[in-house]
Amino acid sequence: MSVLYERAVRPVLFRLGGGDAETAHERTLRALARLPAFRRPYSPSGASKTVLGIRFPNPVGLAAGMDKDGRALPAWPSLGFGFVEVGTVTRHAQPGNDRPRLFRLPQHEAIVNRMGFNNAGAEALAGRLGRLGPLRVPLGISLGKSKITPLDQAVEDYVRSFRILYAFGDYFAINVSSPNTPGLRELQDRGRLSELLGALRSEKPLLVKVAPDLTDAALGELLDVCLERGVAGVIATNTTIERPGVATAEAGGLSGRPLAARALEVVRFVAKESGLPVIGVGGVTHPGDAVRMIDAGASLVQLYTGLIYRGPSLVRGCVRALSSRSGT
Ligand SMILES: Cc1cc2nc3c(=O)[nH]c(=O)nc-3n(C[C@H](O)[C@H](O)[C@H](O)COP(=O)(O)O)c2cc1C
Repeated sequence: MSVLYERAVRPVLFRLGGGDAETAHERTLRALARLPAFRRPYSPSGASKTVLGIRFPNPVGLAAGMDKDGRALPAWPSLGFGFVEVGTVTRHAQPGNDRPRLFRLPQHEAIVNRMGFNNAGAEALAGRLGRLGPLRVPLGISLGKSKITPLDQAVEDYVRSFRILYAFGDYFAINVSSPNTPGLRELQDRGRLSELLGALRSEKPLLVKVAPDLTDAALGELLDVCLERGVAGVIATNTTIERPGVATAEAGGLSGRPLAARALEVVRFVAKESGLPVIGVGGVTHPGDAVRMIDAGASLVQLYTGLIYRGPSLVRGCVRALSSRSGT
């Protein structure tokens, strides 16, 4: 299946829209939105797992950013995902940065993006989720800051989105780590993060998504704040502004294979230092990468870029690799 995808399907997808990566993405999403939904999630023996008080049919999820507005939600469990994170969504609908803003680096199995939270806004997502009814797998909702909102009013911006979407998410991801919204990563600083998390207290699990570019000291401080504020878990990591072994002039966040080593390091650090549940994400392009994430201390795994290069069989491959091991 993976060979079929890589030899037959991927070349066609990559040529869509004259090779423009975002056009291919949009058309694929539209096609997926029309897929008939399977009734049961993919959950082979040994795959299901309870984390954050939530039962997951399997521990492999779709990472944020692939389906920001939840347009193809029923399709993801049919592809084998055990949970889905929609968003990042913002209080105000916004177009994101100018195109082109999504670049494939096939020789590295990587992507550089500077999308800038293009999304239809929190209210539109709430409307769609309300019409759709419950999903067959747990749903995470990733929240970010609207570009028009100044940094010193960020708390109110997140709180408004959170209230609008509260009824629909099984967990909420607080995205303070995208490199593509000016100033956003400053919300990872102790004072600002503490204020934000204090304002978002809830009955449902809150997770903080971190950048791979923080030093151990900065990460340690961030984890202190998470623990002080009763955060339920950490998602590690977002894309990197570093270019490990990759030569590209495009600005933005790098994802995929070159991110794997650093993401794994951060997962290990966060799990060890905080003891919090971790969702490991970054560079999972092979089932062995998912296994390494769990070995590094992650409770769940997500992927995005690997799906583009390896196709949906990667998802089931990861689930099978993890289910065949005891304790996962
Ligand atoms: C095109 C693109 C858009 C993304 N958008 C978001 C986003 O809106 N919110 C977010 O938290 N992460 C976003 N991400 C980051 C992914 O969720 C993930 O953390 C990162 O890509 C590393 O995983 P991967 O190597 O499996 O892709 C985006 C990634 C890509 C490639």
